Amino acid sequence: MIEHISTIVVCGAGTMGAGIAQTAVLSGFRTILFDLNEAVLEKAYQNITLQFEKLYEKGKLSTAARELAYLSLETTTDLQTCFGDVIIEAIVEKIPAKVGLFNQLAEINHSDVIFCSNTSSLSISAIADKVQNPSRVVGMHFFNPAPVMKLVEIIRGTQTSEAVANRTYELAKQMGKTPVHVKDSPGFIVNRVARHYYLEAMQLAEDGVASLPVIDKLLENAGFKMGPFALMDLIGNDVNLAVTTSLYEAFDQAPRFKPGQLQIDKVAKGELGKKTGKGFYDYTNK
Ligand code: NAI
Repeated sequence: MIEHISTIVVCGAGTMGAGIAQTAVLSGFRTILFDLNEAVLEKAYQNITLQFEKLYEKGKLSTAARELAYLSLETTTDLQTCFGDVIIEAIVEKIPAKVGLFNQLAEINHSDVIFCSNTSSLSISAIADKVQNPSRVVGMHFFNPAPVMKLVEIIRGTQTSEAVANRTYELAKQMGKTPVHVKDSPGFIVNRVARHYYLEAMQLAEDGVASLPVIDKLLENAGFKMGPFALMDLIGNDVNLAVTTSLYEAFDQAPRFKPGQLQIDKVAKGELGKKTGKGFYDYTNK
C-alpha cells in the first residue's frame, strides 16, 4: 500500500482530465497528463499554464512556485512513460475503455499503484472486476470545473480495500478538496439526483412550457448556480448523454432515467457544448 504519493498520472486531457491535472500540480504533485490526442493535450497544456500565469499575476503563486509548477507538469501521448503512484483516469465513459487502460498501465507500474476512476456513473466494482488486483481500484469522482469544485465522491467498489479508499480520501484532501465516501451505486449521489434536473428541464422545453434561456434564468434565480441547459453545455452533451444512458440501463430502463430527445439530437449533430463551440447555446463569439 502506497504511503507517500509523489507522482500522479492523469489519463484523458479533456474537460475533466485537464482540470484534475491542474489541481494535482498546484497541490505539489509531479503530474503526468496523458491523452491519445496530441491536439487535446496541447490545448490542455495551454489552458493549465495560462492558469499558472493568472495565479502568478494575482500574487497567488510565487515566482518559485510558478517555476515548480511548470517543472512538475509533463504531457505525453506515450502510455509507456506513464509511471506513477496514483493513476486517475478521465477518459471516455465506457467500461471496456477504462478497463483496457488500467490493465495496460498495470503492466508497467508497480503492483500497488492506486487506480482511480473519475467515472460519473459506471460501477466501480464492474471496472475493478476486470483489472488485475481489483482491491486497488477506487472511484474518485471530481466535479466540473475540477479546479473550482470542492466535492469529490470517493467510491468503494465491492473489492476496493479500505486502505485504498482511505488513502484516496486523504489524497483528495491533499488536493484541497472535500471528499465524501459514497457507496457504489449507479450515478452515485450527485449525478443520480441531478439527472432529473436535466431531464425535467428538457421535458419542459419539449412541452413548449418555456424557452431554454427562460428555464435557465428562472432556475438560476431560484438559487441553482447554473441553469440546466448551460450546465449540460459545460459538462458536454456527449458525456451527459452517456451518463443518463448508463443510469437508464443500470435501472432496467426505468422511464425516470430515459434520455431526453433534445440531448440525443444535440449529440447526433455534434453540438456537444462549450468544447465544440455550440451546444444548446452558441459560444463561437465568446
Ligand atoms: P472529454 O471528452 O472532454 O475528454 C476525454 C478525453 O479522453 C479525450 O481528450 C480523449 O482523447 C481521451 N481519451 C479517450 N480514450 C482514451 C484512452 N484510451 N487513453 C487516453 N485518453 C483517452 O470527457 P470529460 O468530460 O473530461 O469526461 C471524462 C470522464 O470524466 C468521463 O468518465 C466522465 O463521465 C467523467 N466526468 C465528466 C464530468 C463533466 O462534467 N464533463 C464531470 C465528472 C466526471
